[in-house]
Formats: sequence, structure tokens, C-alpha cells
Amino acid sequence: MIENNKDYKIAILGGTGKEGRGLAYRWAKAGFPIIIGSRNPIKAIETAEEIKNMLSNDIIITGTSNEQAAQNCQAAVLTVPYSAHKIIIESLKDFLHGKLFIDVTVPLTPPKVTKVQMPPAGSAAQESHLILGDTVLLAAAFHNISYENLLDDAQEINCDVLVTGTSKESRQSTLTLVKAAGFFGLDAGPIENSVVLEGLTSILIGINHQYKSNHAGIRITGITRTD
Ligand SMILES: NC(=O)c1ccc[n+]([C@@H]2O[C@H](COP(=O)([O-])OP(=O)(O)OC[C@H]3O[C@@H](n4cnc5c(N)ncnc54)[C@H](OP(=O)(O)O)[C@@H]3O)[C@@H](O)[C@H]2O)c1
Repeated sequence: MIENNKDYKIAILGGTGKEGRGLAYRWAKAGFPIIIGSRNPIKAIETAEEIKNMLSNDIIITGTSNEQAAQNCQAAVLTVPYSAHKIIIESLKDFLHGKLFIDVTVPLTPPKVTKVQMPPAGSAAQESHLILGDTVLLAAAFHNISYENLLDDAQEINCDVLVTGTSKESRQSTLTLVKAAGFFGLDAGPIENSVVLEGLTSILIGINHQYKSNHAGIRITGITRTD
């Protein structure tokens, strides 16, 4: 339950990369204290400084190791390449008990990133569930939002954010963060449904290649949009 943005620390694990940096930018702007996590704390501090320079001075953003970030947050968001997914969750799981954990990972297998290739667990999010069990509030989201779109908030981004999770609570808290980041979010049901959202990313990357864009997105029609 997020009561006050400024009291809700969000750790971005692998936050020195493209997607993590974009999410950090959005949530820092919305008033959440952000902790950038990295294997290299110096790199994390530099990334935090860069984001601070993009925004006003009163935002709260720091950089540290992934371990410290996971330990000191209320919610952790994972933005690492799929090749690092399993190992990083296993190494941080003890710090995540009881916290919201949002997995943004898409199991892309270079060089064929336009072809859907799911891991044996079914999806990256299900792999997280296997490792973490029910000790965390697990959700998966933002798979279909490119970092370019996260860093470009001058115009409305024509892409919804579908959220899956292991509980209604994990999905609701994530939807609050989706809205705070400036997107329209929808509850897409249980974590097993993440296979569709993760797979859709490969299709959007392929469409971007074919149609020379970096803004391909999805929008759900036939519903009443309240915000
Ligand atoms: N880029 C997008 O537009 C986009 C959109 C939707 C979803 N995603 C998903 O988001 C995730 C991150 O994507 P990205 O483009 O931001 O990736 P990225 O820039 O290539 O990497 C993100 C960060 O992951 C960390 N990392 C790399 N290899 C690692 C390893 N072996 N062990 C631990 N950490 C490692 C690095 O941080 P340190 O070196 O600082 O530790 C790196 O800065 C991926 O799963 C991707 O599919 C990306």
C-alpha cells in the first residue's frame, strides 16, 4: 500500500541500464526516493547524478550496490538482461521478503530478439516466482514500454501497461506506480499471464524494425478509461 510517495523508496536493480534509468527518471519526477542498484556502486552513483541533472535538485536519488538497494527499499524493480535474471534474484532474495517486487525482464535471446523464446519456467516472471515463492509481492510490468518512451515525457505515450502478479495486492500497488509513472495501467491477471506480455515485446521490436520506429505500442480498446 503506497500512502505517500516521498516515504516509499523504490530500488531499481540494474538501474544503470536503459530501461531502469527510464523508470527511475519517471518515478523520481513523481516524488519517490529512488535507489539505483548496480554491481558497481560507483556506476550507480554516477547514474543517480545524471538523472538528478535531468530533473530538479529536490528529487531524492542515490546509487549503491544491488544488495544495499534491495535491502533499503520498500519496492524493488528488476531491469537486467535475461541472461542475469536467475542469478541476480537468487542472490537478492533474502532482502526482498514482504516487499513489492516488479519484474520487467523480457527473456530475449540475442541475436533473434524478434522471435518469442520463453524459458522452461514459462516466462521470466514465472521463473521469479519459482525462486521467490510467495515471500514477496510479485508483479511483472512495463515489458512493452521502451526506454525511449520512458525518457520522453513531453508527449503522451500511446501504450498501455499491462500488469500481472501473484496477488491482487501486488497488481494494485504496481498499478499505482504505473499511474505515477504517467501511464495507463490495466490488471492483466495472474503471473502466468506474463508469458503474453513478455512475448509481445519481441513482436513490438520486430514491428519497430520493419516500420522504422521506436514507438510501437499496444492499447486496450472497449473499456472506459477513468484517467
Ligand atoms: N530497453 C528497453 O527499451 C526495454 C523495454 C522493456 C523491457 N526491457 C527489459 O528490461 C531489462 C533491462 O533492459 P535494458 O535495455 O535496460 O538492459 P541493459 O541496459 O543492457 O542492462 C541493464 C543493466 O543490467 C545490469 N547487468 C548486465 N549484465 C548483468 C549481469 N550479468 N549480472 C547482473 N547485472 C547485469 C547492468 O548494470 P550494472 O553493470 O550497473 O550492474 C546494466 O546496466 C531486460 O530484461 C529487457 O528485456 C527493456
